[in-house]
Amino acid sequence: MKAKLDKGQKIVAATHNPGKAVEIAALLEGRFEIITAKSLNLPEPDETESTFVGNAVLKARAAADASGLVAIADDSGLSVAALDGAPGIFSARWAGPDKDFAHAMKKVEERLEEIGSDDRSAWFTSALAVAWPHGPCLVVEGRVDGRLTFPPKGDRGFGYDPIFTPDGGEQTFGEMEPTEKDAISHRARAFEKLKAALFD
Ligand code: IMP
Repeated sequence: MKAKLDKGQKIVAATHNPGKAVEIAALLEGRFEIITAKSLNLPEPDETESTFVGNAVLKARAAADASGLVAIADDSGLSVAALDGAPGIFSARWAGPDKDFAHAMKKVEERLEEIGSDDRSAWFTSALAVAWPHGPCLVVEGRVDGRLTFPPKGDRGFGYDPIFTPDGGEQTFGEMEPTEKDAISHRARAFEKLKAALFD
């Protein structure tokens, strides 16, 4: 398997979100030329798998095979222990078409109230997949464990950050300096594993 990449190699970020492509380029330390699936007019596949890893592989594989270039994709989300891992792969979908995360965070709180659970354990997961066209696929996963706190606190970060406090900390991801979050986040951990696998 060709598990290494050349410096400056063209890689497709399998996302139609330009912000995510910029983030991927930065996390890979500018070693590659990152182009987006959108700029190549590649279709966005339906995320039909039941795991983060499955969906990341599905997206990377589709972009690599359609473009003939190596492709990278991610899938991430928040899992709540007492809710059997929900919202999990549906994290973005819980916020609805308007991407209303205040609503999504309220929904998490309401679901916990409904079942009457005091267990506030939760974790973020980030799966990253790199696929070679019609070839192998490398996949890694990063995770950060913590607990949920209501009401939401802090206006930094995005998504579910204001209700998540990582283990060993007192502040939510929404209150932390971005550099503090980036040092311990699920995404940073996944990228560390990916870099260890791809770079010498
Ligand atoms: P994706 O773009 O399909 O991977 O969607 C992931 C969703 O999970 C995002 O829309 C957020 O709701 C949530 N999520 C993933 N990572 C984070 C994070 O670092 N902080 C807060 N929410 C996150």
